Amino acid sequence: MEINKVCYRALHVPNSWTLDAYQSIGGYKVWRKILQEKTDPNKIIEQLKESGLRGRGGAGFPTATKWTFIKRDMPGQKYVVCNSDEGEPGTFKDRDIMRYNPHQLLEGIAIAGYVMGASVAYNYIRGEYREPIARMEAALAEANAARLLGKDILGSGFDMHIHNVEGAGAYICGEETALLDSLEGKKGLPRFKPPFPAAHGVYGKPTTVNNTETLASVPVILETGKYGNYKIFSVSGHVNKPGNYEVPLGITFRELLDLAGGMLDGKKLKAVIPGGSSAPVLPAEQIMDMPMDFDSLAKAGTMLGSGAVIVLNEDTCMVELLARISDFYMEESCGQCTPCREGTGWMARILHRILHGEGSKEDIDKLDSIASGIMGHTICALGDAAAMPVQSFIKHFRQEFVAKI
Ligand SMILES: Cc1cc2nc3c(=O)[nH]c(=O)nc-3n(C[C@H](O)[C@H](O)[C@H](O)COP(=O)(O)O)c2cc1C
Repeated sequence: MEINKVCYRALHVPNSWTLDAYQSIGGYKVWRKILQEKTDPNKIIEQLKESGLRGRGGAGFPTATKWTFIKRDMPGQKYVVCNSDEGEPGTFKDRDIMRYNPHQLLEGIAIAGYVMGASVAYNYIRGEYREPIARMEAALAEANAARLLGKDILGSGFDMHIHNVEGAGAYICGEETALLDSLEGKKGLPRFKPPFPAAHGVYGKPTTVNNTETLASVPVILETGKYGNYKIFSVSGHVNKPGNYEVPLGITFRELLDLAGGMLDGKKLKAVIPGGSSAPVLPAEQIMDMPMDFDSLAKAGTMLGSGAVIVLNEDTCMVELLARISDFYMEESCGQCTPCREGTGWMARILHRILHGEGSKEDIDKLDSIASGIMGHTICALGDAAAMPVQSFIKHFRQEFVAKI
């Protein structure tokens, strides 16, 4: 199996984050060709459609379709926003794209801008990511100096001004509309939709928001006509070699676990959270031969999400883990919607009660009912993200909760 062929294709090159290194593996070739040939944007969209690329930020929305929402010849300012907030616990793939292959991300953002006629783009980066921010800033300076970005790029008449923007540590600012508010200098609160960002985005202008991995995949897909089905999995937890693995979608969990060096200390697998902490957990017997792709995981009642695979061994206390996850969502709820603001705290308090042996039998059903009260009743999906772990942990590991009580 070929691994690390798309966003991580530069990993073997020394100082892969520099312009020279990137160009030595064919970097900016696609971008130069598009500008020289004035490629029809519809042709690019068609190629992306054929590749089957789906958004890597969590929801898996087809990228080609998203890119048709904003037409190149629509008048007025349009924007591309790259979502590098990477807040979902367990996810650390975008960090390594920005550290080791920042130019490929810039190239992908520029191509998106070309397709949609957007001359300004923002890359909103998680504030804690100091090294990735430094690498992105250095890459941007190099690309601007080489006139691969900026005004009248390589004499094409096309402008593309990219700005890196630092977040300030809020999970909610990864939600695309909260991100837009944060970009505008406001407190990051999710907006009501519709209108969607394609109609009313940053500064009220048409905006396309894509994840870092989505955008960084574009140059390689256009160059090779392949690899739309590659995905980075951030494997963490009780494995021998935690890390990022860029592999074809549909790889089985068993194969992925092998790549990650197998179970730590030879312990038995108990469960896996396959798509970041908000994805419903699956017990070992259900995940082992599961193809890791959007549709198979959805059919099994969970999701691929951001591709963060959290591996849990037989010693894991599921009550303690869920209490920990619930603390996170309580802390990160923006407080705008009552079900999420009140429900996340309520669930966390009950879980800590159970964890400390002070729970009652009714607490389990109460947790389930609070989670149902949150699901689908909030402006953004943070509420769902908080509710899904609670419901799935109870569904699969009820006995552990009962035992604590
Ligand atoms: C609470 C919350 C947090 C999110 N955090 C991120 C994030 O850190 N990075 C990201 O790319 N998408 C995140 N998303 C998804 C974005 O709203 C959006 O769907 C995504 O950036 C679209 O890009 P894509 O189409 O390329 O996947 C989050 C969504 C929610 C509801």
